[in-house]
Amino acid sequence: MALEIIRPFAEEQYANEIQALIQQDHLPKPRNWKLSPAAVLVYMTGGKLADGTVISTKYYGSRRTLELAIATLLSDRALLLTGIPGTAKTWVAEHLTAAVSGDSSLLIQGTTGISEDQLRYGWNYAALLAGGPSEQALVPSPVMRAMESGQIVRLEELTRIPTEIQDALITVLSEKTLPIPELNRQVHAVQGFNLIATANDQDKGIYEMSAALKRRFNIVVMPLPATLEEEVQIVQNRVTEMERMLEIPLPEIKARQMEQLVTLFRELRDGKTLDGKQKIRSSKAHLSPAEAISILHHARIHSHYFNKNQLSADQILPGVINALRHIDEDEPAVLQEYNETILKKRSDWKDWYQALKELL
Ligand SMILES: Nc1ncnc2c1ncn2[C@@H]1O[C@H](COP(=O)(O)OP(=O)(O)OP(=O)(O)O)[C@@H](O)[C@H]1O
Ligand SMILES: [Mg+2]
Repeated sequence: MALEIIRPFAEEQYANEIQALIQQDHLPKPRNWKLSPAAVLVYMTGGKLADGTVISTKYYGSRRTLELAIATLLSDRALLLTGIPGTAKTWVAEHLTAAVSGDSSLLIQGTTGISEDQLRYGWNYAALLAGGPSEQALVPSPVMRAMESGQIVRLEELTRIPTEIQDALITVLSEKTLPIPELNRQVHAVQGFNLIATANDQDKGIYEMSAALKRRFNIVVMPLPATLEEEVQIVQNRVTEMERMLEIPLPEIKARQMEQLVTLFRELRDGKTLDGKQKIRSSKAHLSPAEAISILHHARIHSHYFNKNQLSADQILPGVINALRHIDEDEPAVLQEYNETILKKRSDWKDWYQALKELL
């Protein structure tokens, strides 16, 4: 049996959609772009094409945010997506890259241990020692390859890279040139080149960005979903998609359960009930759509194998408690307080109240 890749790149998974968009896109395409900016927007927001092809919604939320992001890729600035964890920064970066360049594989993962070489170019040391600096000994970074081919390169978690190393990008982004003094030449970026970086601004171990580097970016802050309905929609879609990849019949999630989990997330995040009438202690945990998706997916797998394929509150809630515990041992106390002051009074939340009482 052929081995299956767990998570193919966006351009592979959505190859049909991209192909259909390319065929029906009659608007002018910027140099080296696979699609026109308007078609990239359709790829992101979803829609139905003239031939009936359905384009799935990749991003729910402000259309303006996406327009801003797409327009930035055509400007002289790079794009920086920031925001709290789980607000689809990586997701949007990957899909935009897939739609614009048709290839989202040029990727650098930012870490504290990264070196300037990994952002610019390095050397094959055996070849370097044997023959000195040469084209054959040069190892281009994904940034350099994107410059040469006019593609988008992604840089994940930019602010996990120490500030002085981040600054290696300044010349690349402002001059669109990468000097290689050892070979007495430079790489000039080809039209179509740009960079999408992501950074979350709330984790521990984050480095500042220099003002000089910041100026080379348009910074787009990714918001949390504006409404309950939108957040439910995001979670619903992604959870269904993840089930499809797993190919086992997971238990049904009732619309009500989905709504309850998202309500709990929103109320704990906002520090008040949805109707705004009652204040509660808010949680420091990042209760994002991504967290809800992962909790539900896990709960369904658990229920499939160990709870007769029935999904109930006591399968979902351990994930929530864990998410709180990740932040701080005392955080579950916030949930306990919420359970006693809010959920206890809600007649249609009895199973959630009981399950939480037992679990906490
Ligand atoms: N507005 C949204 N529209 C569509 N999907 C969303 C939205 N918000 C969150 N998601 C979903 O959340 C999941 C995770 O998002 P992603 O990993 O991109 O978050 P992130 O912002 O990069 O987080 P981190 O800071 O932890 O890296 C994705 O599966 C995505 O489908
Ligand atoms: Mg991310």
